[in-house]
Amino acid sequence: MGPQPPGEQPKLPIPGVQNIIAIGSGKGGVGKSTVAVNLAISLAKLGYAVGLMDADVYGPNVPLMMGVRDTPHAVGQRIQPLKAHGITLMSMGFLNPGDKPLVWRGPMLNSVIQQFLRNVDWGNLDYLIIDLPPGTGDVQLTLIQTTPLTGAVVVTTPSDVSLEDARKAVHMFEQVREQVLGIVENMSYLEHNGEKIYVFGQGGGARTAELMKVPLLAEIPLDPKTREGGDSGQPIATVTEPNAQVTRFEKLARMIVERAEASKQKQRPTITVAD
Ligand SMILES: Nc1ncnc2c1ncn2[C@@H]1O[C@H](COP(=O)(O)OP(=O)(O)OP(=O)(O)O)[C@@H](O)[C@H]1O
Ligand SMILES: [Mg+2]
Repeated sequence: MGPQPPGEQPKLPIPGVQNIIAIGSGKGGVGKSTVAVNLAISLAKLGYAVGLMDADVYGPNVPLMMGVRDTPHAVGQRIQPLKAHGITLMSMGFLNPGDKPLVWRGPMLNSVIQQFLRNVDWGNLDYLIIDLPPGTGDVQLTLIQTTPLTGAVVVTTPSDVSLEDARKAVHMFEQVREQVLGIVENMSYLEHNGEKIYVFGQGGGARTAELMKVPLLAEIPLDPKTREGGDSGQPIATVTEPNAQVTRFEKLARMIVERAEASKQKQRPTITVAD
């Protein structure tokens, strides 16, 4: 490895964790946490060991979405993560349950994120999914500057405001030279009586992906059962009966695996064979 460019912090890997994938967005409320939770479960269904870190310290939704209310304990200085639906979990919501807001500022937030990354006993994981807070602020930037990501996934709805902000998110990852594995368009349409209603406009995710030269990984429609699953702690991806939304998340998981493996291949140093 060459010398660190000036002003850049070293990116330290997390021992035992093979792939780290950040789920981000420009805008809030576009479905990052929903995608993160269902992607994590779908990866676990493929047989991978999966962790999910909720980096949304102010608005942690992972405990509710995964149906976990316990408090993690520490062994020595190490925090023991919780487990639900086969996924290893850490969230600020476990440490600050209820609806009291946190009033921390930048440096403290960043130190919590570093603790979540470094002081939690994640164990051996094939994938650690990080559910980021919305936007391109300091917490997101510090996290991606200090963590060697396999790649990032940017979630957007097809509406112009969401897409405009999604482009900013893509740029943020590219600025710190983290690969964007692709865009997930969420809330793409609503199916009613066999007809697709494009509530937030049509094809925006695909156009943005083309513009930003990144793949469009999925188009996920609005689906009441997906919302119910998140609110009840039983994410839709846990449903075992045939279900089109479950299939979409499974397909997304397989695409992420493919892209993650391709991205690692690229990062591997080339070995030259002497003749
Ligand atoms: N495809 C979908 N179909 C139906 N409801 C959805 C879908 N995706 C997300 N939702 C619902 O929309 C709301 C917002 O989703 P979510 O919390 O995942 O967004 P977010 O981007 O993580 O938000 P924040 O920016 O606040 O972290 C939730 O109630 C969730 O259940
Ligand atoms: Mg969220």
